[in-house]
Amino acid sequence: MSRDRWSSRYIFLFAAIGSAVGLGNVWKFPYLAYKYGGGAFLIPYFIALIVIGIPLLTIEFALGQKMQSGAFDSFVKVHKRAGGIGFAAIFAGFIVVVYYAAVMAWSLLYFMRSFTNDLPWAADSGDYFFNNILKISSGVGDIGGVNWVLFIALFFVWVMIYFTIWKGVKSVGKVVAITMPLPIILLVILFIRGITLDGAGYGISAYLTPDFNILLDTDIWLAAISQIFFTLSIGFGIMIAYASYNKKDQNVLGDAVITAVVNSAISLFAGFVVFSVLGYMATSTSVDISEVAKSGPGLAFVVFPKALSLMPWAGFFSVLFFITLLTLGIDSAFSLVEAVNTSMKDRFPKLTLAKISFYTCTLAFLLGILFVTNAGLYYLDIVDHFITYYGLVIVGLFEVIIIGWVYKAKRMREFINSVSKFKLGVWFDILLKFIIPIILLLILADNLVNEFETNYEGYPDWALRIGWGLIVFQIVVALFLVLRKKYDNVSDTDQ
Ligand code: PHE
Repeated sequence: MSRDRWSSRYIFLFAAIGSAVGLGNVWKFPYLAYKYGGGAFLIPYFIALIVIGIPLLTIEFALGQKMQSGAFDSFVKVHKRAGGIGFAAIFAGFIVVVYYAAVMAWSLLYFMRSFTNDLPWAADSGDYFFNNILKISSGVGDIGGVNWVLFIALFFVWVMIYFTIWKGVKSVGKVVAITMPLPIILLVILFIRGITLDGAGYGISAYLTPDFNILLDTDIWLAAISQIFFTLSIGFGIMIAYASYNKKDQNVLGDAVITAVVNSAISLFAGFVVFSVLGYMATSTSVDISEVAKSGPGLAFVVFPKALSLMPWAGFFSVLFFITLLTLGIDSAFSLVEAVNTSMKDRFPKLTLAKISFYTCTLAFLLGILFVTNAGLYYLDIVDHFITYYGLVIVGLFEVIIIGWVYKAKRMREFINSVSKFKLGVWFDILLKFIIPIILLLILADNLVNEFETNYEGYPDWALRIGWGLIVFQIVVALFLVLRKKYDNVSDTDQ
C-alpha cells in the first residue's frame, strides 16, 4: 500500500506552519520580549532559533521524510531499540492536546458570547473568566464538579478535531488551507485597529525598547530556548509525522527554514497587535503598562477581552479576536493528534484512519474532563509546566543524541544535503553531537534545580507529584521499549 501524500508542498508547509503558529506566538512571545529587555530579547531568540530551533526542525523533517514513518517507527528504523524516543514524543504531545483542547473550549465560549456590544465581561473581566467561564474552585485540592458548559464546549472542540483528522492528510490538507492563513489575515485587521488607537505607541515602545544589560542574565537565554522549542512544535513527533507524507526528495532544509522564519515573523507581528492594544488600555484607564502586560490565559481571557470591551465596535473586534484564537489553536491541536495517529497507523495498518481517530479523540476527550472541572485551570497549569519543562526537553535531548551519535550526524547531513538546495557544512555535525545536547542538558539541570528550590507556583507536593508521575511514566515506558527490541513489521531496507 502506498503512503498517503500531501496534495502539494505548499499544503505541507501550511500544515507545518499551522502547527507551529499557535497560542504561544500571541500570548507568550510578546510578553517574553516585553519582560526580557524588549528588542534586546530578539538577540537570544534568534540565536536560539538558528543554533537549536532550525537544526532540530530540520532533523525532524528529515527523519520523517527519509523513513516515511511517524515518530515511533522512524526511531525504530534508526535503531531497533530507539522506539522509546518516538513513544516519549507522542506521549508528550498527547498530554498537551488533552489540555490544549480545554483552552480551545474556553475560546469557543468567549467567541459565542462576543456577538453583542454589551460584552458580558466588560465590567470585570477577571471575575468573568474565573467565576463565570471557569467557575474556579478554591484550590487544586478542591475539584468541585464538572463544569457542564465547558464540558459541552470541549465536546464540540473534539468533534471539530475528529472531522479534521479522520481522513489523515487528505482531510487535514483541506482544513489547514483555511486555518493557517485565516488567523494571519485576522491579525492584520487587529493590527490596523491596534496601531490606530490612542496609546499604541506607548505600548509598542514598552514591547520593543531594548535594554541590552539584560543579555548578561542567563534567564533570558533559557527563556529564549524554551520558547523556540515550544513555538516550533519540536519534540512532539508532529513534524516527523507531517514530513513522512512528503516525497523522499523534498527540500528538507528549505522547508525547515521557511517554517521557522514564517513562525517567528508572525510572533514578532503579533507583538505589535498585543502591545498596541495594551498601550491603549493602559492609557485609557490611566495605569502603567506593567499592570496590563500579562502572558498566557491572563492575557487572552482577562486583559485582552477587557481592552476589546473599551473599543468602539467592541463586539465585532471580540468576535475577530476569538476566531483568531480558535483558528490559531486548532491546527496546533490537531497536529498533535495527527502525530499519534500516524504512528498508530504505521503500527496497525489494518485499522482505518477513521477508527484510529475515533479512539484517540475519544480517549483525549475523556481524559480532558479533568481540565473542565472547577479545578481544571490548576491541573492544566501543573501538567503544562512538567511537560514543557521536562517532557519536551528530554525528548529533544535524546533525539539529537541518537541522530548525532547512533544514526550519525554526518549521514543525516548527507541525506539533508542530497535533497536540499543549500548545503549544510560540518558545523552541523558539531551542533548535533555536542552543542545542542550540552545546552539541553544545562536547561534540564537548571529547571531541576529551580524545581527543588521552590514548589512550582506554590502548589502542594501531592499535586506536583502528578506532574512528576507523567514524566516518570514517559521515561519508564520509553525504557521498557528500549529493552523490548523486536518489531517485525519494520523493514530494514528503509534505513
Ligand atoms: N507551537 C504552538 C504554539 O506556539 C504550540 C504547540 C506546541 C502546538 C506543541 C502543538 C504542539 O502555540
